[in-house]
Amino acid sequence: MVNCPMAKAKTLYVCQECGASQPKWAGQCPACQAWNSLVEEQAPESAPKGLGAKKGRRIEFVGLKGAETQPPRRTSGIAEFDRVTGGGLVPGSATLVGGDPGIGKSTVLMQVVAALSGTMSCAYISGEEAIDQLRLRAHRLGHAEAAVGLAAATSVRDIAATLDGKDAPDVVVIDSIQCMYVDSLESAPGTVSQVRTSAQELIRLAKRAGFALILVGHVTKEGTIAGPRVLEHMVDTVLYFEGDPSHQFRVLRAVKNRFGPADEIGVFEMTEAGLMEVPNPSALFLSDHRDDVSGASVFAGMEGTRPVLVEIQSLIAPSSQATPRRAVVGWDSSRLAMIMAVLEARCGVALGGSEVYLNVAGGLKIKEPAADLAVAAALVSSVTGSPVPAETVIFGEVGLSGEVRAVSQTEARLKEAEKLGFTRALIPAARGGSAKSGSRRKSLETSLRIVEVNHLMDIVNMFETAAGEGRAAPAIRAVTPDRG
Ligand code: TYD
Ligand code: MG
Repeated sequence: MVNCPMAKAKTLYVCQECGASQPKWAGQCPACQAWNSLVEEQAPESAPKGLGAKKGRRIEFVGLKGAETQPPRRTSGIAEFDRVTGGGLVPGSATLVGGDPGIGKSTVLMQVVAALSGTMSCAYISGEEAIDQLRLRAHRLGHAEAAVGLAAATSVRDIAATLDGKDAPDVVVIDSIQCMYVDSLESAPGTVSQVRTSAQELIRLAKRAGFALILVGHVTKEGTIAGPRVLEHMVDTVLYFEGDPSHQFRVLRAVKNRFGPADEIGVFEMTEAGLMEVPNPSALFLSDHRDDVSGASVFAGMEGTRPVLVEIQSLIAPSSQATPRRAVVGWDSSRLAMIMAVLEARCGVALGGSEVYLNVAGGLKIKEPAADLAVAAALVSSVTGSPVPAETVIFGEVGLSGEVRAVSQTEARLKEAEKLGFTRALIPAARGGSAKSGSRRKSLETSLRIVEVNHLMDIVNMFETAAGEGRAAPAIRAVTPDRG
């Protein structure tokens, strides 16, 4: 048998959309069917076949119980940021901050390093902006005096040469990973292979030198961080910066965190002097809420461990088109379609021929099914033209038969509503169950008037009663309801 010759340096064609690699170029990626997405890249050195005869070292198993070591944290003092990171940055860890261009990633990270620089050494490396621009921003933010090391660089080799060693900073921001390049690769910065390799090198460097690495990542129009998800798997923490650029609110959301709870949010307000923390987001999201308009309801939601009240607005207008327009901002459009179908089939509220618009005020994106009931209330309120009862919060999940299902963290939601001056809550009815499972709710400690809702029909009836009390009459009552 002849020994294998040294493997030749091979090239592969990697899809920039899905990351799949092919030995030959093609116009269309065979894996994800994207067009013109294959880019040439060097193949990794081929892995040896099997394990061979060489024996491995025995690994030791230990019990689950042991002295737990909490990772030390580097807190910035910006409470909203520290909360989202799970209590501060962890040395040697990598955090990815993703978001649309212009949403405020560079701004918030400049503020974070400026705040951290009081107690530790921080470096801010930008591949996008010149030093003058960075200084201008720091000046605008009132941090011109902060002891942050600024650099404009894009070569990962240079960065590694600078940061490797005992005098490495404690926190390093790389803005952005799409600008960085490794000179051993042929492909251009921003391609999957460059993004992946640059991130790999920087993460390895962070582990070795023990600094907390923050990578900025731009989001593609498809809504993922360019470098298809590969980055998300490589880093310890993924934060997304969301918000409607036309609004001043910005939400930093943890979608993955190896050192803390995911789904935690930090809320900021974009001002002239940078991003300000919003310690009480509910008050901000509800600042324009009025009790006397129809089509709006207040949802008591949970974002991570924090309760957040938001206004849900809907507008229903007659349509002359065969397929009426549906537009949703801040919520899931298929979930809206489901609620509309349930309203129609189970409660006789026909919306099929109308244009339906739904908006979560303030630019927050809601993902909880617990918003179903509040959405339904906003829709019925809009249809009937009568407002949702004043000072009322609503939450509950709606099932396909129209039943209202219990959701988690009832007490936290109610407490937040109480704090903001609400007096009534429409919540899922507690269901009977075995005594052991404790599904019979223990009495709620709240000063709110609790109205338990069993079925979506109860919400519809509420508006009819209100109409009967002298408010505007319902506009649409067409189909005969088919309850249950
Ligand atoms: P930036 O942090 O540059 O966004 P990103 O890094 O995510 O691309 O933020 C850019 C926007 O923020 C820009 O439209 C201007 C606005 N901004 C303010 O409103 N106030 C400020 O103090 C700063 C620095 C920026
Ligand atoms: Mg930027």
